[in-house]
Amino acid sequence: MSAPVAEIAVVEDVWGPTFDALAAERTVLRVPDAWQRPAELPALLAGVSALVVRNRTTVDRSLLASCAALRIVGRAGVGMDNIDVPAADELGVVVSVPFGANAVSVAEHTVGLALAVARHTVPLDTDVRSGGWQRRPGRELAGRTWGLLGLGATGRAVAALARALGMRVIAYDPYVPDGDIPLVPLTQVARDADVISVHLPATAETRGLVDDRLIAAMRPDAILVNAGRGEVVDEPALADALSAGHLFGAGLDVRATEPPTPGPLENLPNVVLTPHVAGITAESQDRITQVLAQDIRAVLDGGTATSPAGIGQPRRQP
Ligand SMILES: NC(=O)c1ccc[n+]([C@@H]2O[C@H](COP(=O)([O-])OP(=O)(O)OC[C@H]3O[C@@H](n4cnc5c(N)ncnc54)[C@H](O)[C@@H]3O)[C@@H](O)[C@H]2O)c1
Repeated sequence: MSAPVAEIAVVEDVWGPTFDALAAERTVLRVPDAWQRPAELPALLAGVSALVVRNRTTVDRSLLASCAALRIVGRAGVGMDNIDVPAADELGVVVSVPFGANAVSVAEHTVGLALAVARHTVPLDTDVRSGGWQRRPGRELAGRTWGLLGLGATGRAVAALARALGMRVIAYDPYVPDGDIPLVPLTQVARDADVISVHLPATAETRGLVDDRLIAAMRPDAILVNAGRGEVVDEPALADALSAGHLFGAGLDVRATEPPTPGPLENLPNVVLTPHVAGITAESQDRITQVLAQDIRAVLDGGTATSPAGIGQPRRQP
């Protein structure tokens, strides 16, 4: 007798108590490294109704079309660069994205990176561990200006923390209405901000937005943090500027290629690097899996998702 086809497939490293509960009710296929073998995914997902991914599984039109029973894709995170949402809409597959569920986590990490750069935390830690005691002065952020590139959920959460530190906040985002945070041109963020943090998705407009010219226009003692998408920052241009002593330092949670091949940025002492974890905390993962589990249950039972991207209407029926 062949094994029953799983209703739900989790093909990246996503789990937690909420998914334990889901797995107690429904059949769940859990293959956290399946995303590494994209050619095998159509066969693995044959008959599956719900697919759960992070950002490493390419959910393109051909995969969506090959999974005839698929009714919902749950994205454990907020970026949608790896999912063809228009194709999912056309094919009647709901894409559930827990918008904003990791914004506080991203904001805390973003501020943490800026503070680590400002206070030389990583090189001082390395020095103390090897017996040193160099009491090198850092810099305060209070009274300075924080510039946001992208004023969505994560940018707004950073603004709240930056203000709590006593900073003035400005933002560049042509797609949001005027509100309590002054919106300014990109060049003004570069000119005026002491800390600039990137909270942009990777799109045709944003790729390479932070290029050599924009970096040259930044204050020579500015700190740049990228917690959006790596492709937005021209990494060779950033490494050149930092090597030349332009900019105080940088904190990078996301990279153009992940994982990156170690290069000039890895050798600079005023750069703090983390492996795309800004949004990953116990709390955010709990919020994310709750939204996904709720939407998966709803769609598989013939209802609608609470947090859909795109049209979000399941046309494929149970
Ligand atoms: N490092 C991490 O762990 C992590 C976690 C969450 C999100 N992210 C990334 O950060 C990005 C932002 O997340 P979010 O939750 O704030 O998303 P969001 O959709 O709420 O906000 C994105 C903002 O970018 C703005 N934007 C889009 N194109 C722009 C452009 N060309 N110029 C200026 N602004 C533009 C939008 O208007 C929007 O306000 C996500 O797309 C994701 O790629 C990374």
